[in-house]
Amino acid sequence: MLLDQTRLPAEEAELVCTDVPALVRAIRTLAVRGAPLLGIAGAYGVALAAAREEDVASAAELLERARPTAVNLGYGVRRAERAYREAIGKGADPERAAALALAEARALHREDAEASGHMARYGLALLDELLPGGGGHRLLTHCNTGALVSGGEGTAFAVALAAHRGRRLRQLWVDETRPLLQGARLTAYEAARNGMPYSLLTDNAAGSLFAAGEVDAVLIGADRIAADGSVANKVGSYPLAVLAKYHHVPFIVVAPTTTVDLDTAGGASIIVEQRPGIEVTELTSPRAGVAGEDAVGLPVAPVGTAAYNPAFDVTPPELITAIVTEEGAVSPVTGVGLAELCARSSQVTIS
Ligand code: MRU
Repeated sequence: MLLDQTRLPAEEAELVCTDVPALVRAIRTLAVRGAPLLGIAGAYGVALAAAREEDVASAAELLERARPTAVNLGYGVRRAERAYREAIGKGADPERAAALALAEARALHREDAEASGHMARYGLALLDELLPGGGGHRLLTHCNTGALVSGGEGTAFAVALAAHRGRRLRQLWVDETRPLLQGARLTAYEAARNGMPYSLLTDNAAGSLFAAGEVDAVLIGADRIAADGSVANKVGSYPLAVLAKYHHVPFIVVAPTTTVDLDTAGGASIIVEQRPGIEVTELTSPRAGVAGEDAVGLPVAPVGTAAYNPAFDVTPPELITAIVTEEGAVSPVTGVGLAELCARSSQVTIS
């Protein structure tokens, strides 16, 4: 059972996925989304296939291919699948192997919650170091990186929340995050629930906010971090990094080491998901674009207009002040520094 994120903030609706195709659809329609949560959902999906005594390898492949950019999805899927396969290899019956796959999914879920707490602490310590003034931090964030995408309180959002709890958050600037409005629909929802001081802005308004000196730091999450420190995250992250560099504002990426993909050398090798143009040409739910559902969108462009709709963009390491993980921060961002953090991590490695 999932919280259907396509219905937020209007409705807190549950979505029950009783088989793998339903879960794949939930992933593709963004009912369940955000890198760490995709990993957790993928692992539970494998456990579900195993419990239904289905072909676990095919289910794992289907799940892993549901969306291409967030490395956590494949990580979670392969972790649970390996637990199942190893159990079968050791002579366990399918029921026992399914129980072990489920235990692995639960372990990943728990570890992600713990990682979230560590990232919040390291991230806040870094902010306090970079921004020593006593007036509280004015932070800008993009997309949605809170409890909705994590076993815990999230990645970048968890840092802002820690600042808020420590009475050091003066303002959270929330980018609406066109075209699917994860900032407006989800981050504003989480900020409101936590009583944080926040304002919503259109993505295009960020430039004038920087120019007015209203942003002390940018905090974003990541979907895949390449070995050289290039970061794929929600489209619109890269322009923020360019703005931040120009205005001498720290640009901080917060992500667990499970989002680091040391097998991908650099940003050019990251596959960026291209989403249906209807998400740009109509104001509608992501369901309509991917699933051809009955949702009726409001056209904002002439019928037949072609659209460019990458879901993510890639920010090069030289624009990133620091990457914060559950093992600490790397700054300046270098491949060697990242590899060291990953080597320190107790996360299970999947080859
Ligand atoms: O397309 P989405 O909504 O799954 O994209 C999510 C993001 O880009 C998040 O910023 C990223 O996954 C980090 S979440 C902690």
